[in-house]
Amino acid sequence: MFSRGCFEAINSYAKYKNNQYLSLEKVLFMNTTVRLIKKSDIEEWVRMRNLLWPGSPEDHIRETNEFFSEKGFYGAVEVFVAENPLGKVIGFVELNIRSVVDGAASGDIPYVEGWYVDENHRNRGVGKLLINEISNWAVKKGYSEIGSDTELDNNISIQAHKALGFKEADRKICFIKTL
Ligand SMILES: CC(C)(COP(=O)(O)OP(=O)(O)OC[C@H]1O[C@@H](n2cnc3c(N)ncnc32)[C@H](O)[C@@H]1OP(=O)(O)O)[C@@H](O)C(=O)NCCC(=O)NCCS
Repeated sequence: MFSRGCFEAINSYAKYKNNQYLSLEKVLFMNTTVRLIKKSDIEEWVRMRNLLWPGSPEDHIRETNEFFSEKGFYGAVEVFVAENPLGKVIGFVELNIRSVVDGAASGDIPYVEGWYVDENHRNRGVGKLLINEISNWAVKKGYSEIGSDTELDNNISIQAHKALGFKEADRKICFIKTL
């Protein structure tokens, strides 16, 4: 049985733009929405977290359940997901409030702890939808900055951050001395 969103997507598929049919892929993106995460998204959230941060599946299960518990999860205050019109969750962004952020003009600002879009949906604007949503959220809460970071060799993430208005604020190398 198709969901209402699915019918709408397939319906729009038949629409012309510039005398050409829109691809189903394009229609699916055009109807992708961003919303606050729900408890019923836990399985998908864990799936995507495992792809973004592999190697600690038990932590992802524990932390995502903590997020919906009374005590909450220390690592995120809000989580938004991107959902396509077929009802499939295809990306997320985790936001926390950090008291100290290198390069920020103020303390206690929203910080992107995790930003992820499923590989087969990348480079079509879904990541942008997620960042736009948290930017609107932050403005409504009275913040004037958002922090984020990425690995030095994650060029796609660096390009995407810059394209979406983030300015590079600092670079760091982390060291460990084994004793
Ligand atoms: C980073 C990530 C979330 C971006 O999601 P996305 O849906 O592909 O991003 P979008 O399609 O919305 O693109 C956003 C901007 O980044 C740019 N961008 C996206 N992919 C790019 C690429 N491969 N090369 C250069 N620029 C790119 C786009 O051009 C776009 O800018 P524009 O609006 O000026 O055109 C996604 O690549 C991802 O999940 N990567 C793996 C996880 C990761 O590295 N996360 C970030 C660190 S936590």
